[in-house]
Amino acid sequence: MSRFIKHLSDFFAVTDDDDDFELPLDESGKLIRPIGTVRAVEHSFKTRSAGQGSPTGSPQQTEVLPLDDESRALLEIAKAVRDKAYAKYSGFHVGAVLVAASGQVYPGVNMENASYPAGLCAERAAFAAAITAGEREFSAIAIIGSDDDAPCYPCGICRQVMAEFCPPEFPVILSDGVYSLGSLLPHSFEL
Ligand code: THU
Repeated sequence: MSRFIKHLSDFFAVTDDDDDFELPLDESGKLIRPIGTVRAVEHSFKTRSAGQGSPTGSPQQTEVLPLDDESRALLEIAKAVRDKAYAKYSGFHVGAVLVAASGQVYPGVNMENASYPAGLCAERAAFAAAITAGEREFSAIAIIGSDDDAPCYPCGICRQVMAEFCPPEFPVILSDGVYSLGSLLPHSFEL
């Protein structure tokens, strides 16, 4: 088990000894360098025919990069975090791990409520924790849903929340690869 995961394990009382991944850490357990970024490339939807509607601009299409060791490690941590999800109504457990530019890592889980709209997604729980701690710049987020193998694409609201703080090239690490935020939300709302 890497020191990084051990660090989170202590916090979350996780007992997972199956970790093969090592993260580059400093003495205090922070990531020494940020997770790699993804490269966004321009793409236009030339096949879209009249009558189907057309995008107002040129949405960014991004290569989905394969998972590397660091992103796999973050997904493993997200799985450990997921154990704390409060998904009493849907039964769908989500874990998110947000890496700030400082190197500090913020976990989040979904938190449901008897009044359904009061529920909160894991991604926004992680952002709330990070923003509360004073963070404003972020390196990556890893997200895992109930099924380890099926990608848990972030919902539209969470994509918009990410876009408030993160650039289009912000890496969103899912179980099937690393996406850019710009490809997941090409036209975010701005004031
Ligand atoms: N959920 C998340 O936490 N993140 C997502 O990106 C998608 C959905 C949660 C919300 C709710 O608690 C449950 O999954 C089912 O929608």
